[in-house]
Amino acid sequence: MNETLERWSSRRAFILAVTGAAVGLGNIWRFPYITGENGGAAFLLLYVAFVLLLGLPVMMAEILIGRAGRRSPAASLAYLAGQAGRSKQWWWLGVFGAFTVFCILSFYSVVSGWSIEFLVSSINGEFVGKTAAEVGTSFDAFLANPRLMTFNHTLFLIMTMGVVASGVSRGLERLNNLLMPLLYLLLLVLAGYAVTTSGFGRALSWMFRPDFSAVTPMVLVQAMGHAFFTLAVGACALMAYGAYMPENQSLPRAAVAVAVLDISVALLAGIAIFSVVFAQGLDPSEGPGLMFVTLPVAFSNLPFGSLWLSLFFLLLLLATWTSSINLAEPMVATLQGWGLRRGYAATLIGTLVWLAGFACVLSFSTISEVDILFGMNVFALFSTIPPEVFLPVGGLLIAFFAAWVMPESAAQDALGIGKTGFQLWRQLLRWVSIPLTLVVLVSGLL
Ligand code: TRP
Repeated sequence: MNETLERWSSRRAFILAVTGAAVGLGNIWRFPYITGENGGAAFLLLYVAFVLLLGLPVMMAEILIGRAGRRSPAASLAYLAGQAGRSKQWWWLGVFGAFTVFCILSFYSVVSGWSIEFLVSSINGEFVGKTAAEVGTSFDAFLANPRLMTFNHTLFLIMTMGVVASGVSRGLERLNNLLMPLLYLLLLVLAGYAVTTSGFGRALSWMFRPDFSAVTPMVLVQAMGHAFFTLAVGACALMAYGAYMPENQSLPRAAVAVAVLDISVALLAGIAIFSVVFAQGLDPSEGPGLMFVTLPVAFSNLPFGSLWLSLFFLLLLLATWTSSINLAEPMVATLQGWGLRRGYAATLIGTLVWLAGFACVLSFSTISEVDILFGMNVFALFSTIPPEVFLPVGGLLIAFFAAWVMPESAAQDALGIGKTGFQLWRQLLRWVSIPLTLVVLVSGLL
C-alpha cells in the first residue's frame, strides 16, 4: 500500500479532528456514571493521573506511528516494522485495533441512538413535570422497545457512515470545524447554569474530596480503561488520523491541547450533571441510566427545562457523531488500502456494525438474559471488555512499538520535537507508561 497524500488542511483542523474523536459519550455519559459508581473524587483523581501518565504519552506514540507510516494503521505498522528490520507481523496490531473499534462502535451507535430519542422527546416537551420514577419507567419502556431503538441506531449509523464515505477532508474536516466550537459553547452555558443550582456545592465536594479507602484493583482497571477510552487511544484510530497530519506541526503540543480540552469537558459535564443530581436529591451511582434518567427530571423541574435539556442532547449527539466517525475511520481506511472504494468500504463496515449493534439493542429485551461471558449479555460485554481490556492491551503494544521497535530517527522526526523532549517522552513511555499499564492489567486479572 502506498503513502497517502491526504492532509488535514491546517494545524487547527488536526487538533479539532482529534478533539472531536476524544470528546464524546466517554466524557458526557460514561465518565459521570462510572465516577458515580466508584464513589466520586478518588476515581476522578486516578482517571486524571492515568490520562496524564499513560493516555497522553501513548496518544503521542499512536499519532506518531500514523504520521511516520502515512498509511492505514495496519499498513503503517508493517511498513515501519519492515524499515526497522523487524517482523511485519506487527500488522496484526492494526487488525486488533480494527476489531476493538468494531466492538466499541456497535454499542456506541446504540447509546448515541438513545440521545437521538431523548433529543426528540425533550424538544416535544415530554419530560415536563415528570417525577424520577416516571422518567425511569419511560426509559425502561424505551429500552424494551427493540423497534424504536433499532430505528435510532440505524439513523445514527447512517449519519456516521455517510460522513465517513464522503472522504477525509471534505467530510470529516468540515463537520469538525463546524461542530466543535459550538459544542464548547453549549457546554459552558450548561455548566454556568449548574452553578446557580442548589446542588453545586455538594457536587464540588463530592467530585473533588477523595476517599482512597475505596480504591480496589478493579477500580484501577476501570480508571485506566476509561483514560484510554476518553482519549480515543489504544485502537489505532488516532493512528489513522495521524496519517493525515500536516508535516510542520508539533505533535506533543497538539496532544496536550486535546487532553486538556478532553478533561475539561468531562469535568464540566460532571459539574453540570452532579449539581442537578444533588439539587434534586437523586442517586449518583445510578449506572448507565444516570444521565438519561436523572437529567430529564432535574431539568424539567427548572425554568426553561425543555430548552436546556434539548440543548444538552443536541450537544451530546454532535459529540458522539464526531467520535463515531473516528471509530469507523480505521476500518474503512484498511479496506480502502486493500483497493476497495471508500463508499463501498463504508457501506460494508456500516452493515457489519449494524448487525452487532442490533445484538446490543436486543440485549435490553429479547436476549437480555443470554449470558455470553462472565454473566454479561452482549451489551454489557461490548461496553466493558473492549474499553477496559482491549484498549489498554492495544495501548501497551502501541507504546512498545514506538518506544522499542521503531527506528529512533523516524520516531523523533514524526514527533516533531527536539532531542531532549524526545528522550523525555521515550523514557516516560519505556519506564512509566508501559510498566504501569502492565501492573494495573495484571492486578486486575488476579
Ligand atoms: N473518545 C470517545 C469518547 O470519549 C470514544 C472514541 C472515539 C474512542 N474514538 C475512539 C474510543 C477510539 C476508543 C478508540 O466518547
